[in-house]
Amino acid sequence: MKLQIINGPNLNLLGTREKDIYGDQNFEDYFKKLKSKFKSIELHYFQSNIEGELIDKIHDVGFNFDGIIINAAAYTHTSVGIGDAIRSISIPVIEVHISNTYSREEFRHKSFLSAHVKGIVMGLGLRSYDLAISSFIKNYK
Ligand code: DQA
Repeated sequence: MKLQIINGPNLNLLGTREKDIYGDQNFEDYFKKLKSKFKSIELHYFQSNIEGELIDKIHDVGFNFDGIIINAAAYTHTSVGIGDAIRSISIPVIEVHISNTYSREEFRHKSFLSAHVKGIVMGLGLRSYDLAISSFIKNYK
């Protein structure tokens, strides 16, 4: 099973950025843990601060992987383009957020992705990614 994790803008600063909200672990270290936990899965990780690069990655994997786990970060709340990219591919997508965006500012309550994804995991810290992977495995078997 091949899964692609896609992280959007500023998530390269996890572990440094707003630790009270996002925690003190960087994603590269967390990704190593995920890989060792889910040894039977081919897990890939991509991060970009550029909207078009995120869309290109969705197109690249969207017809040949088994699923995408995406945290589009701030683009969640602004990007019709990422929402359209998710609609355009053939594999299932799970949206994740580290924080509970509904408990934060009102502009974070709107997601341009949510209507097009299979499910959403949010507010559980980095564990949100772990649970999204587990869900793909459970539904795949
Ligand atoms: C986020 C929530 C977004 O509102 C924010 O812009 C992010 C991270 C999260 O994972 O909690 O950068 O997607």
